[in-house]
Amino acid sequence: MRDRSNIPDSNFIIRLATLADVEALVELHWMSFKPEDHVPVMLGRRYVRATYHWLVTGAISYVLVAEANGCIVGLIAVADRSFISPMFRACLSEFALSIARHPGLLLRGKLWQRLLRRPDVTSQGRHIADYPGMAQMTNGAVDAGYRGQGVFPALVEASRTFSKERGSRAIRAGIYKTNMPSRRVFIKAGWIETPALETPDTVFYVSYLDPAFPIELGLDGAQFHT
Ligand SMILES: CC(C)(COP(=O)(O)OP(=O)(O)OC[C@H]1O[C@@H](n2cnc3c(N)ncnc32)[C@H](O)[C@@H]1OP(=O)(O)O)[C@@H](O)C(=O)NCCC(=O)NCCS
Repeated sequence: MRDRSNIPDSNFIIRLATLADVEALVELHWMSFKPEDHVPVMLGRRYVRATYHWLVTGAISYVLVAEANGCIVGLIAVADRSFISPMFRACLSEFALSIARHPGLLLRGKLWQRLLRRPDVTSQGRHIADYPGMAQMTNGAVDAGYRGQGVFPALVEASRTFSKERGSRAIRAGIYKTNMPSRRVFIKAGWIETPALETPDTVFYVSYLDPAFPIELGLDGAQFHT
């Protein structure tokens, strides 16, 4: 572990992740999420590695990292569209290996709840989520030693620029309702809470990159909770 005591606050750069970053991304992810509320961590490190391999190399996704003094201290991963099915398909062989190694996982209710859940509860939610141009944040995390210094807000802002360049017209981000530190980042950045996308445990925020997009989606101002 490098000595970070001499790194001033907010002294980080943001760049696109490459394959060479995958191990560091896996480590940061592993330290940031608990298996009981995060299925990839429940499935094990190899499965998490497979998801980052897909996110970094896949045609429909990208990962940005915050780097301080040569260390990756934050990440945000974004897919150009709904990511759960394509990512799961890409990682299916690793999923099967995880189950073969740990058959007890099949008894974990949370696994089935996550795998079988409908991603969006209302038909309006599905319409918004599936509309071409709607990107989705898949993961975000900051090293515990760098939290509260604006690293994630900077990554979230950078994702708007990157997604716009990739042709996206909006980004949605699903956050556990109980995760107030993360929710505050999106609220402060002006992302719009969108009840139509909500699930029982997850709230969704949307950032519009094209001002005409909400109208095309059939939304009006009354549906926006700012
Ligand atoms: C959510 C998370 C990404 C926020 O990253 P961050 O770079 O710390 O974001 P910020 O600097 O804006 O701080 C967010 C909040 O964290 C809290 N915070 C401040 N210092 C902190 C610290 N040392 N440790 C933990 N939280 C701290 C603050 O309450 C802050 O809210 P505020 O703006 O009202 O002060 C980070 O806490 C994290 O990685 N959590 C674990 C993974 C996770 O929950 N990911 C979210 C899924 S998208």
